[in-house]
Amino acid sequence: PRPPYADTGVPVREPENPVQPPEVIERMRRAGKAAAEVLALVGEAVRPGVTTDELDALCHEACIERGGYPSPLNYGGFPKSLCTSVNEVICHGIPDSRALLDGDIVNLDVTIYLDGVHGDTNATFLVGDVDPESRRLVEVTRECLERAIAVVRPGQPFNAIGRAIQEHAEGNGFGVVRSFVGHGIGRQFHTDLHVPHYYDPGLTRVIEEGMTFTIEPMITVGAWDHDLWPDGWTAVTVDRKRTAQFEHTLVVTADGAEVLTQV
Ligand code: MF3
Ligand code: CO
Ligand code: CO
Repeated sequence: PRPPYADTGVPVREPENPVQPPEVIERMRRAGKAAAEVLALVGEAVRPGVTTDELDALCHEACIERGGYPSPLNYGGFPKSLCTSVNEVICHGIPDSRALLDGDIVNLDVTIYLDGVHGDTNATFLVGDVDPESRRLVEVTRECLERAIAVVRPGQPFNAIGRAIQEHAEGNGFGVVRSFVGHGIGRQFHTDLHVPHYYDPGLTRVIEEGMTFTIEPMITVGAWDHDLWPDGWTAVTVDRKRTAQFEHTLVVTADGAEVLTQV
C-alpha cells in the first residue's frame, strides 16, 4: 500500500492530533522497527566505491520486502526512495551516480510507510578512513540526539529539546541548523507540529503523553545557514563545511520517551 501522495506527488495536509491513539502508536512501533532495520541494512552497504543510487535501490527493495513503501518517493516530487546527504549536504540529498569516496561522511535518511503510518530515522556513516574533526562532529551530533531524547517527558516545554541540543553543540564549537526542524509524524509524514533543534524561548507548547514526533538535529562544523541547489532539494552549508545528522521517531510515555525507530 502506497501513501496517498505517491501518484500525485502532492501531500494533502489533513488535521492530525499530535497525541495519537494507542492503536496508531502500536502501528508506529512496527513502522519504526522496520525503518530502523532498513537503515541498518543500507548502512551496512556504505563503503568507498558504492554509489548513492545503489544505496537508494537497497532501501527501496528493503521497504517493499517488509510490506511497506519508501515514504520519500514522490513526496512533494522527491525523485528517490532515500535521502543521501554527503559531507556539506545538510539534508534532502538526492541519490545519484556519484561513488562515495574514502573520507566522506554520509547521512542516510530512511522513512517507511507501513500499515498506514510513517517511521522516520536517519544516521550519519563514516566512509573508510575519516579525519578526526569529522569523526568528532558525527559523535557530538549523535550525543545531541541522545541528550534531547533524555529531556522528553510530559509537562516539559518543547524548547527544552532545542536547549539541550544547542548547549551540547555550541559547547563543542559546532553550529545548529535552524531552517529544518523535527516534526509530528503518524498517518502523515510531517504534521504541523514543529520541533526546533535550537533554544526558542517563545516556544511555550508543552510535551504531552502519547505525542509522536521526530528529533533530528543537524549540526555543523562552521556556519549553520544553508544554500539550496538548483534541484530544489539539496540543502548545503553556506561555507560548504561538513554537517552531520541523526534522527529518531519517538512516542512520549508517562515518564519519558520510547524510541520507536529501533530494531
Ligand atoms: N526524512 C526527512 C525528514 O526527516 C524528510 C525527507 S522529505 C523527502 O523529515 F521528500 F526528501 F523525502
Ligand atoms: Co523527519
Ligand atoms: Co528523516
